[in-house]
Amino acid sequence: MIVSGSASQGLAAALAAELGEELARVEYESFPDGERVVRVPPVEGRAVVVASTVDDGSFVELLQLQDAVREAGAERVVTVLPYMGYARQDEAFEPGEPVSARAMARAISTGTDAVYTVNVHEPAVCEFFDVPATNVDATPHLADPLPEDLRDPVFLAPDASALPLAESVRDAYGPGDADFFEKVRHSGTDVEIVPSETDVSGRDVVVVDDIVATGSTMSEAIGLLDDPDRVYVACVHPLLAANARTKLANAGVEAVLATDTIERAVSEASAAPAVARALGRET
Ligand code: R5P
Repeated sequence: MIVSGSASQGLAAALAAELGEELARVEYESFPDGERVVRVPPVEGRAVVVASTVDDGSFVELLQLQDAVREAGAERVVTVLPYMGYARQDEAFEPGEPVSARAMARAISTGTDAVYTVNVHEPAVCEFFDVPATNVDATPHLADPLPEDLRDPVFLAPDASALPLAESVRDAYGPGDADFFEKVRHSGTDVEIVPSETDVSGRDVVVVDDIVATGSTMSEAIGLLDDPDRVYVACVHPLLAANARTKLANAGVEAVLATDTIERAVSEASAAPAVARALGRET
């Protein structure tokens, strides 16, 4: 049975369809004091809880869902974290700070037998879980909504660590070059982005990253492109916080394309087939 967090209902439904499994009808409510409660139907066998922790409330809801499905009879609980909040806090950057990704992973581990993340910020985050954790790659599906007529395309990553993502989208799309911007860190706050050596003049450019949060990384990188034709932004997790959409629009972006790990208007691609393949391997 597929059991959805309130922020992941579209992806959970797509996953249920991919796997041919029942989609639980879950009730989400809040008490007058703001505390949440969920209700799930009786479960037999495996429960797959699908819940992006897009904010602190959805993190609490995930822990409740894990507990509820066990109470409802689940023999095995699998947790799919399409988007794992706090994953970018994967080390203590200043003295006295927590390793928040580890704290979240430990808490999530207490209510599940296995975890699946999707393009988690650093794959090493999977080692923070106390149960087997697998990172699923949804980037090939970012090629699905791209126009078929891209002109001599270049797939660019905003830094070297995102190059495999850009290459993956390029490979799924077909023709095109892949390259990355060099990120030079002068100090804790002073980061310079240096353009790649690939000539983008008159070419369609797809800038690929794991996440667009404030849109600063993307808009700064796009601002360095020399006379491109159309510019597309492709990301797995469209967090799109604050004025990210405005920044991207002002940068001249033709379209933002993303998956449904975070359900937004731009979520034209689905991570469901990639997650379904991984879950299929575990049964
Ligand atoms: C950084 O390592 C990540 O891969 C993203 O580039 C970053 O988190 C994007 O954040 P923002 O949109 O706020 O620049």
